[in-house]
Amino acid sequence: MKAYRGEDGKIRLFRPQLNMERMLRSAKRLTLPAFDKRELLDCIRQLIHVDRAWVPESSAASLYVRPVFMGTEPSLGVKRPSKAMIYVILSPVGPYFSSGAFTPISLWADPKYVRAWKGGTGDSKIGGYGKNYGNSLFAQYEAQGYGCQQVLWLYGEDEQITEVGTMNLFLFWTNENGELELATPPLDGIILPGVTRRSILDLALQWGEFKVSERYLTMAALMKAVKEDRVQEMFGAGTACVVCPVGRILYKDENLDIPTNENKLAARFLKELTDIQQII
Ligand SMILES: Cc1ncc(COP(=O)(O)O)c(C=O)c1O
Repeated sequence: MKAYRGEDGKIRLFRPQLNMERMLRSAKRLTLPAFDKRELLDCIRQLIHVDRAWVPESSAASLYVRPVFMGTEPSLGVKRPSKAMIYVILSPVGPYFSSGAFTPISLWADPKYVRAWKGGTGDSKIGGYGKNYGNSLFAQYEAQGYGCQQVLWLYGEDEQITEVGTMNLFLFWTNENGELELATPPLDGIILPGVTRRSILDLALQWGEFKVSERYLTMAALMKAVKEDRVQEMFGAGTACVVCPVGRILYKDENLDIPTNENKLAARFLKELTDIQQII
């Protein structure tokens, strides 16, 4: 989560209850003990209050809030921990990408690496797997070597687009049936259920201006749509950068330029999401 300081000086969080719920679900998947979501959120609010001077006075920076839950069993056996500890790290941060807050980023898509799979833990937030940790780091550095900022993770024989290193992905396009559609891959167990993702889907459904779908998208369908000029915008969504336009995908030695349409839709979501932050 992030804590933001508004122009009025008040400190806000973005849908913190949903983050607590996901943390509890992830803990369950790791056989860590249950905790009281409300109590933890209260502790986090108090901690931020004590450290409130560290919440930057800037709309381009925020205070990262990272609760960590780990087993502390004093034994070597592979078993469910009977002791565990939660700690929370706070740190002021600037824009996630050094290129700036709303500069389109580039992605590297290569089916040779797989980050999550059906039946695995792709839908849980776990240090060993997710974020920039563990098994995703090797590919992340390879992507950077090719001049790309993040990995676009593909899955399966048909190279389904899943998500990006720290973001869920959205495509705003005219689909195969000629319908204007905002699409994002479905939560089928290999994708992290992002709080930002859910919020964007809810907003778009409320607006009712175009079709909103949780559906499979493949690299082949995306390439065809780019070539036929049917893509309007593509953007990532997550706490790290909130909404982040995608400008280029490097795929099998080919650079796919993604139209940005002046990031009109991405910018609209960014504004609306900022408007629903909650004062702590
Ligand atoms: C792999 C992955 N996908 C998506 C997200 C976005 O989730 P949220 O919107 O809850 O930050 C994250 C954020 O941490 C992530 O690590």
